Amino acid sequence: MCGIIAARVADDATPYLLDGLERLEYRGYDSAGIAVRTSTGGTETIRSVSRVGDLRTLVAARSGDPFTGVGIGHTRWATHGAVREANAHPHADCSGRISVVHNGIVENADALRQQLSAQGHVFASEVDSEVITHLVERALAVDPDLMLAVQIATAQLEGSWAIVVLDARDGRMVVAADRSPLVVARAARGDFVASDIGAIATWAETFVALRDGDVVELGESWTWSSRGEMVPVPFASPSPFAAEALDLGDHTDHMAKEIEEQPAVVAEILDRIAGRAVDGSMWAGLGLAPFERVAVAACGTSLNAGQVIATALRGLGGVPTDTVVASEADQAVLTPGTLVVAISQSGETADVLRALDRFADRHQVLALTNNLHSSLARRADAVLDCHAGPEIGVAATKTFTAQVVVGVSAMISALVASGRIDRSRALALVGDMQRLPGLLAGAAEASADRIPLLVSSVRDASGFLFLGRGAGLPFAAEGALKLKELSYRWAEAYPAGELKHGPLALVTDGTPVVVVENGEHKIQANVAEVRARGGFVITIGGVGADVPALGRDAGRLLSRRTAVTDQGMSTWGPLESVVPLQMLARELALQLGCDVDKPRNLAKSVTVE
Ligand code: F6R
Repeated sequence: MCGIIAARVADDATPYLLDGLERLEYRGYDSAGIAVRTSTGGTETIRSVSRVGDLRTLVAARSGDPFTGVGIGHTRWATHGAVREANAHPHADCSGRISVVHNGIVENADALRQQLSAQGHVFASEVDSEVITHLVERALAVDPDLMLAVQIATAQLEGSWAIVVLDARDGRMVVAADRSPLVVARAARGDFVASDIGAIATWAETFVALRDGDVVELGESWTWSSRGEMVPVPFASPSPFAAEALDLGDHTDHMAKEIEEQPAVVAEILDRIAGRAVDGSMWAGLGLAPFERVAVAACGTSLNAGQVIATALRGLGGVPTDTVVASEADQAVLTPGTLVVAISQSGETADVLRALDRFADRHQVLALTNNLHSSLARRADAVLDCHAGPEIGVAATKTFTAQVVVGVSAMISALVASGRIDRSRALALVGDMQRLPGLLAGAAEASADRIPLLVSSVRDASGFLFLGRGAGLPFAAEGALKLKELSYRWAEAYPAGELKHGPLALVTDGTPVVVVENGEHKIQANVAEVRARGGFVITIGGVGADVPALGRDAGRLLSRRTAVTDQGMSTWGPLESVVPLQMLARELALQLGCDVDKPRNLAKSVTVE
């Protein structure tokens, strides 16, 4: 949560800070602010209790001393303290000399605040982050070296932090991180810092992700310390994204773009890995020991992807597989020989990292992430890249699809390598997967015209039920999650057979019930139970389905496939059904006037437990 950015460039820093903050808004958008050194040697701070667009307007309207090329910025997802200007970052020390932006949580903030207040430090906000400014100020009173002061300050913190500290007096800038992501980058124009390389990909040429305990001073040459010891500057990687991959192009929103990209993403993934899934080398390349069982740990959409992967693993290889809600990992009991598959598109989800802390001593951990430079990727025993490309919309779409395809492929490869299935079976399964790009594209095409009209029929409903059975269930769960996070309407997913054990009481005349079909004939009886109570049934899928005119029963959104093999798709479920489910949620949100790229109260990278 929260995005931070900094620039040390020759010209005015503010355009870089504002552009970068716009790209980081997916990490939080309660408020935004910048602090930039001015030509007369002070720092000017501008903050707004709204989006970066408003901050841009405030910056354009100012008429102070010219800005220099040294500045920091922040976009906030509130944890401590209400959403008001005093709580927005950057925060300053008592004298206004030190400005700080922070992402993370200072768990001992109350104790530090009391101690600092008793020593005369005056606080201007309620946020935990402000203690960092005063700790740096206190350290500077003893020794004027900013790098040392930041090392002393961070040594007193408990919790997680990625910070940038700017000294107005000389423009020195020091960054530090522990359990929160931060990258420092070099470019012809100067140095940049960001929570996510995507925010600065337009300018960055090479970058380094900070490790836990790193403190770095930027400048002509970087000074790097790790857990208090001076170390050589680590090897820098080339910037991973083409800048245009981050832009909207002709699309109205990032979610629309990312939904549309799914067939291409899956085709590219299969080009990379299909062969290696069939011959077992994808698994062998990970260097992991054989396993008896698997536990998949994740949150939200990644957990739904994990459910799909678990269903495939059980169905294809008979491997006992559990799914663990990462925030409840303390309750899980894993037997020896269990492989933990930790899934997180961001690789920074605190609940997943905490689950990893719990399991890593006794179990091998395989990370499945869209961010190879993330904390999860660094801490796991082996890493699989989702290859989804940058996902900017807060609601996960293409990363879900990519996680499923990469995760199922890896598991097919593991099953071949362990002799649980033979190569010819793997070949048939991967052959079936090769149809996915076409199926995903076909699902979008079949649904595009129907969804707006359908949504206008259910727009005023206060709640939605999503039903599925067997391999269709994780997709029903994903459809419900997308709908609630985007449209702010209640939505619950149930195994269709559970309907009669309680949720059926919710169904009255017109209640929308979305049914994910995957060839389970028993679901028809459950649909009949809904219809008998006047429910408004929206069916996703169905082999050879015809499409009744929109009306009382909305009919089918897509005719799923012409043939279902008995191994393969039927085992990992109707992946293409996710496309109309995503489109349904997006369209409802748009018709209700919601921001589909930035749903309220949410952030893309959830770095707090
Ligand atoms: C839903 C969504 C969230 C995330 C969850 C886990 O659209 O985006 O539910 O899936 O916060 O995030 P990652 O995958 O980054 O661990």
